Amino acid sequence: MPSRSRKTLGKRHRDAREWIDLKDPTCLHNANWERYYRGQVIPEAEWEPFLASMRLPLPVALRFNQTAGGDAKKCEADFLHEFGTTMALRPVAFLPGAQQGPMSRSDLKRNVSFKAAKVVVHGLNEIGRLSRQEVVSMIPPLLLDVQPDDMVLDMCAAPGSKTQQLLESLAVGPGGCVVANDINAGRLDILYRQIGRSPANQARSMVTNHDAARFPVLGRTRFDRVLCDVMCSGDGTLRKSVDLWPRWNAIMGPSLNNAQCNVLQRGMLLCKQGATLVYSTCSLNPVEDEAVIATCLKWARGAFELVDAAVETKAAREGTLRWYPGVATWRVTSRDASKSFATLEDSQRDGDERFRYSASMFPPSPDEQASLHLERCMRVPPHLQDTGGFFIAKLKCLREMRSTTNLSGKPEGASKNVLAAWQTLAEAGADLLATVKQNLEMDRDDCAAFPFDDILLRKESGREAKMYLANAASRQVLSDLGYRCVAIGCKVFESPAKRSLSLLRFTLEGAEALASLLPPRLLLECTTPAALLELLERYKKLEQRPSTATMPFPAAGFCECVSRPSRLPAHFLIRVVLGKGIGALFMAGDVENPTAPPEAASVRLRFEVHHLALLRYELNLPVITVTPVDTEKEQRGDGDSAEDNDSEEAESEEEPTPDD
Ligand SMILES: C[S@@+](CC[C@H](N)C(=O)[O-])C[C@H]1O[C@@H](n2cnc3c(N)ncnc32)[C@H](O)[C@@H]1O
Repeated sequence: MPSRSRKTLGKRHRDAREWIDLKDPTCLHNANWERYYRGQVIPEAEWEPFLASMRLPLPVALRFNQTAGGDAKKCEADFLHEFGTTMALRPVAFLPGAQQGPMSRSDLKRNVSFKAAKVVVHGLNEIGRLSRQEVVSMIPPLLLDVQPDDMVLDMCAAPGSKTQQLLESLAVGPGGCVVANDINAGRLDILYRQIGRSPANQARSMVTNHDAARFPVLGRTRFDRVLCDVMCSGDGTLRKSVDLWPRWNAIMGPSLNNAQCNVLQRGMLLCKQGATLVYSTCSLNPVEDEAVIATCLKWARGAFELVDAAVETKAAREGTLRWYPGVATWRVTSRDASKSFATLEDSQRDGDERFRYSASMFPPSPDEQASLHLERCMRVPPHLQDTGGFFIAKLKCLREMRSTTNLSGKPEGASKNVLAAWQTLAEAGADLLATVKQNLEMDRDDCAAFPFDDILLRKESGREAKMYLANAASRQVLSDLGYRCVAIGCKVFESPAKRSLSLLRFTLEGAEALASLLPPRLLLECTTPAALLELLERYKKLEQRPSTATMPFPAAGFCECVSRPSRLPAHFLIRVVLGKGIGALFMAGDVENPTAPPEAASVRLRFEVHHLALLRYELNLPVITVTPVDTEKEQRGDGDSAEDNDSEEAESEEEPTPDD
């Protein structure tokens, strides 16, 4: 059995201020939970294997991005060649590119034998070539089956592991857009960072900050695909959220039922005819799962139907994905699950007076059961495939729903004139456009080919120092949703000087998205990874001594300017092509004193610590010796080592805790 880490051992139970000794299996126990689930959702005969699985730490899983730059198959094969044995990885049968190991996330973090693998995983994750995402979390996007050019809404998106997977499916075509929404502004940063790991994909995304239950139903905005991966009590995550064991009670799920119904109903209203909607939770509780589906199907009056995943899903037909069919009836109980209520009236009479039960929590009548087909839902218990627990339902929109009232009964703001806070660079005026072209040294020929219409900036004065590349589909949604759009597209130009374009440059995070749009003159091809690594490591050492903070560039024979070998452009990107399926890595550079004679010019390079790690991986050098010095970050006071970054990464793949 994989060990729980020292850090996790003795994890504290937040409410009771008690310590849980994870070595003691009796601590991973909750009598109410057992009373609630045993025999009703989990058949008696499977209870012991189910319970045993729930008490084991969750194994680590990786998903190699099939549509990122590079060669996904080679990236996966080379990674497995290097680390597959150490990590004992085996393929996840139902999803190409997904691998699962027996060790827990804590093991991966702290066991020294995984140190090199961990650094490479971190590096590949940072450039979007792989995601650390738990296996069950990959199922809802798989079932949503996003097609090129689809308009997709991810209603509860943070921290964004599923959003990234949805974007990967879009990436095979030029169009389409994913609107990633979350109510929790504090989690939007993590979401944005997660999406930003694949800059080309990020250019077809938008991040919004709405209550999903009130997501605007406006003019043209209807979606082909909607994901409602809603907030839930999270008891499917007990394998990693161990502090939930003592806290769980049988009304945690019901207390979210109304909010879940509201989000799903709003998602239904936002669907085009023929659209697919997937509803999912990481809770096994039917009151959060089938009860929500039944309530909303009845509310939709035939406009939606459940899709039979067993028939429609390739992985299901092939028998590589296993689950329990949805249940048609369930118990609504008191807090400790000792009393069951047959009707709403019973619950109001005999239930906990501090909790209000509602009709939407109760099973449908036998007649309704026959037409709803709740057995088409999927419940993935942990012991079938050594995963977390999850619930997924796939719905088809048969008829677009029209709404004149929102769910709170107030008139819909359909005519509300929402002024988009954004504009394209072309719309922002000739002067601004000319300044951008001049500062980035883009001449007439460069500009003719460059898509300035795809560059967006905020309208308010003083905000124009950041500019974003966003495709046509996301700009179309923006005109409807602009006022609550927190971020759109991928940041490609920025000026580190506040409220001024004087230092305008290419962003490092947008380099990969920009590269194919820039003229070769501004994109330096690096001849060898070894030369680049040598330069960057030398450069880093110089950076640590303020008196020699810059160095002449290019180093002899190291990189070639394609069309202007005698003069380095003031701002440029560097591309180095790596083997091992990684594809190209991008860095950025700026001449610090462009008016000085070439021999006196100094250059500042911008790159990330994980770039060094990946260059070392490419060159078969020890990757664990990377010294994490990132001067720009350190100057901002948020320097982080490759090792330490892990905690943030882990957070980004985390399913919600019940507090969500
Ligand atoms: C299960 S998590 C989503 C996980 C995410 N889909 C992923 O795969 O990374 C639920 C999310 O719903 C958000 N949330 C809770 N209530 C919401 C609401 N009313 N509207 C929108 N988002 C909400 C929470 O902030 C949380 O980030």
